[in-house]
Amino acid sequence: MDDSLASFIAGLPKAELHLHLEGSFEPEQMFAIARRNKADIPFKSVEEVRAAYRFSNLQDFLDIYYRAAEVLRTEEDFHDLTLAYLKRVAADGVRHVEVFFDPQTHTARGIPFATVAGGILKALKEGDGFGITSKLILCFLRHLSEEDGFATFKQAEPWLDHIAGVGLDSSELGHPPSQLTHLFDAARAAGLKLVAHAGEEGPAAYVWEALDILHVDRIDHGNRSLDDPRLVARLAAEQMTLTVCPLSNFKLCVVKDMAQHPLKRMLDLGLRATVNSDDPAYFGGYVNANFAAVAEALALSKAELATLAKNSFLGSFLDEDAKARHAAAVDTYAAQDGQL
Ligand code: ADE
Ligand code: ZN
Repeated sequence: MDDSLASFIAGLPKAELHLHLEGSFEPEQMFAIARRNKADIPFKSVEEVRAAYRFSNLQDFLDIYYRAAEVLRTEEDFHDLTLAYLKRVAADGVRHVEVFFDPQTHTARGIPFATVAGGILKALKEGDGFGITSKLILCFLRHLSEEDGFATFKQAEPWLDHIAGVGLDSSELGHPPSQLTHLFDAARAAGLKLVAHAGEEGPAAYVWEALDILHVDRIDHGNRSLDDPRLVARLAAEQMTLTVCPLSNFKLCVVKDMAQHPLKRMLDLGLRATVNSDDPAYFGGYVNANFAAVAEALALSKAELATLAKNSFLGSFLDEDAKARHAAAVDTYAAQDGQL
């Protein structure tokens, strides 16, 4: 890639809005933590782990992702995982993150909710010290029952002052958003923001459900929205944020080829799309690698890259002052580069 474009991406102030902490678990750290906990992992080496990261769909990935997460046991583990991610993205010009965690993956193994949340929140606070603000989003696993989700929500109650929102992730096909209507109603009543993975592998109908039944504030992925012109018009009119994850889409075969990625079409249709890494340890890159992949494959201009970065702040759950401050920083940066 052109050096000038790579350095433009590197210096662009940006937020990351779609990141699963468990998906930032690098193989080297997985081995180190497994050793510390005397935990078994089904791989002999880092190379063997990386070689296993060939997926033909979302479920292939989730099977390995949940297995690897079993190594995480102590508050220190969750802290170290989170801190490693924050340090890594500080180098990518990331100023703000809104990160997901999957508590049910851990509580189902007998790890207390407080161990998971306590470790993550301690690291997020340390992130403030090196210039990364953050919000935490509790994701419910859609392959589990709404009752299981409610039990988790109960355990989260003492932590709700430190949790900005709830999300919906895991196996999408066969698990429409409407399955968790009551749980999302309860989260909304508790004053939390709402997001949901929809239209990653599932149809546009799932995006409609996320909007009209769960009343979400953001759509995670949303690729399949483009199948439905009426939905596109709705998303554009509401300036609904889509947290798009290009390398994830490629690795999970949601798109066959990066040149066919819908991100540029989304921008051309007036949608508020953002660029995110989803599960960077598994999909081959953090946020700047995602920017670089689409910039190259879709021949995005610097102005389009700046729009994507600005969208990441406008679509965040920061207050209006902070959004405006960050958006102005993107404008200043682009203007210095002669883009505005
Ligand atoms: N959990 C972690 N990554 C995910 C993804 N891309 N889709 C659904 N659930 C996930
Ligand atoms: Zn995701």
